Amino acid sequence: MNNTIYVDAKMTDDQRCEHLYNGQLFVYSPRPTALGFTSFAREMICEGFDSSDPTRAQFDMPVEEFVKIFAPMKPAFIHHAKTKKLIQEMLLEFGCDMANTYLDVPRLRAVTSDAYLTAGVGFAHHPHRDTWYSAPMCQINWWLPIFPMASESSMAFHPKYWDQAIANGSADFNYYEWNSTSRASAAQHIKSDTRPQPKPLEPMELDPQVRLVTEPGGAILFSAAQMHSTVPNTSGRTRFSIDFRTVHLSDLRSGKSALNVDSSPLGTSLRDFMRSTDLTPIPEDVIAMYENAPVKEGVLVFRPEPMMN
Ligand SMILES: [Fe+2]
Repeated sequence: MNNTIYVDAKMTDDQRCEHLYNGQLFVYSPRPTALGFTSFAREMICEGFDSSDPTRAQFDMPVEEFVKIFAPMKPAFIHHAKTKKLIQEMLLEFGCDMANTYLDVPRLRAVTSDAYLTAGVGFAHHPHRDTWYSAPMCQINWWLPIFPMASESSMAFHPKYWDQAIANGSADFNYYEWNSTSRASAAQHIKSDTRPQPKPLEPMELDPQVRLVTEPGGAILFSAAQMHSTVPNTSGRTRFSIDFRTVHLSDLRSGKSALNVDSSPLGTSLRDFMRSTDLTPIPEDVIAMYENAPVKEGVLVFRPEPMMN
């Protein structure tokens, strides 16, 4: 396969998905709606840390204090009335077919520098595909930096593994179990993270790796099947970012997606998605096509804690 990074590509939503399903990456320069979205998050973070430069706040407080301030910001951001409006505006500007596009709630993340906080709400992710965590194979991930970032505080892609399977723990991952136990406890994990997560079970070649760096208001799009990891942050600044996921209903129905080379989790995250126009859920007959585990009581209640990226 080739590895292409499309910069500010002018193409339809379907064409973009086609390329993403083939393992290509997309990066966009700052656009007004995305900048509006990240600026809103930036204001919230500055206010929460009572600082004009929260990317340095970690150096002025013990890690427990950092978690105490940041943890409540995550659900506050998700549920703020403005968040929904801003994300809809952004999807429109990015040419999404709104009636066909379903999204989950946008998450706010912090990756601190110098291994200050590597667990729970600041979890630094080992190499993984989101599809190991019960994401559908046609899921698209959107990622936006909130403050200026550096290669040393970015995300790494490992495209060698796009079509190469590796032994991994996804067969032991059950999305419904995760929702009912591990997810809600993220803020309790400060020094270490004991939540069971699907990991590579064999040595990997993580170099060469691809890192994309864009300004606040820029965006990075990639397939949920793409192998990626959190770069150990050595930039001297906390990286704050937003991410969310979209799926096309038509592709869920037709089965058009990235190829599944090694993902075999139980359950599906599809109940977390809402239509971008009116926030209605994905029709149950479509979810049933992806259901491979008994649904546990409580799974329909969305839990606004972070999982990936
Ligand atoms: Fe991820």
